[in-house]
Amino acid sequence: MADFSIRRHVDLAPYNTLGVGATAGWFVKIREIPDVARLLEAPPSRERPVHILGGGSNVLFLGDVDGIVAHVAVGGREVIARDDRHLWLKAGAGENWHALVRHCVEQGWGGIENLSLIPGTVGAAPIQNIGAYGAELSGVFHSLTAVNLSDGTTRTFDREACRFGYRDSYFKGEGRGQWLVADVTLRLSLQHEVNTGYDALRRRLEREGIVNPDIDQVSRAVMAERRSKLPDPDDLGNAGSFFKNPVINRPRFEELRERWPGMPHYPAGEGRVKVPAGWLIEETGWKGRRVGPVGTYRQQALVIVNHGGATGHEVWELARRIRDEVAGVFGIELVPEVNIIS
Ligand code: EPU
Repeated sequence: MADFSIRRHVDLAPYNTLGVGATAGWFVKIREIPDVARLLEAPPSRERPVHILGGGSNVLFLGDVDGIVAHVAVGGREVIARDDRHLWLKAGAGENWHALVRHCVEQGWGGIENLSLIPGTVGAAPIQNIGAYGAELSGVFHSLTAVNLSDGTTRTFDREACRFGYRDSYFKGEGRGQWLVADVTLRLSLQHEVNTGYDALRRRLEREGIVNPDIDQVSRAVMAERRSKLPDPDDLGNAGSFFKNPVINRPRFEELRERWPGMPHYPAGEGRVKVPAGWLIEETGWKGRRVGPVGTYRQQALVIVNHGGATGHEVWELARRIRDEVAGVFGIELVPEVNIIS
């Protein structure tokens, strides 16, 4: 048994990239699948909820957690199958996502290079179907192993069972709070065609004079683009995009466009249109503004930042003000992308 222990009253500040202070009543590291059964048999688990925590890069703790926080630290990377065109790679949920991306790029395995530098762990990636620069995890996802938090049994989820959507999956909806993701298997390409269609990525590659980029060049361009727009949580507390980009009906969009002809938009299927929340927030005058220790990032209004010492409630207050102002001006309701733990 690898070092299994449940600790009391643990400070969660180092475990969330927003850097808000909060205390977990109980805290445990899950290093291997049997640790889940050990946790479920332990006395605190009988009457208290278990909150699963990965890299803490997409959570907001509103206050202290009156329950058990299980930090997933299952490691390991293994090539489990290979054919002429693909390779199946299984990675432990506690592995760092970006380190895995760079490993794959260095090996010449394509498919996740557009997802470079996304903070967080491998296990969190399918929960919110991470995405960036025209790619989503669902595009390379093969399956995952999850442990049931009521009885400790394991189950394999294939892509269909995960019900992926835009920053969404079964694990954020119906399955919320019921499973701990222990490992994830990706299907990567050995003869990969890069995807450089995303405007900001295409423009950056053009500026750099790169014509037929390989996966390493795409990965590096994505890293440079992210660094220019998104704050590094080590320098400035943040959880990436705080809200999802809203999707609205085309007639509603046409009405709004009459008033705001410059509104950026992307087709979202079935007569629907996606509008960037960052633009909506900037338009209401919130970009780079600060209220006490919290504010929005000066380069990207969709990112809420902790300038130092903010509480979860202060972050949430600001998010609500922004949400209400956007609703007042545009009649569009922003929905948090970040998981709010109350
Ligand atoms: N925009 C503004 N003002 C802003 C921010 C953005 O006008 O302050 C405009 C931009 O000019 C652009 C559009 O909004 O026309 C889109 O902006 P950007 O390319 O920066 O992307 P985003 O839609 O704001 C999404 C993801 C990011 C991901 C980027 C790049 C969501 C909620 N966010 O942001 O993901 O990195 O695209 O692909 O879908 C995250 O999920 O945490 C995250 C950072």
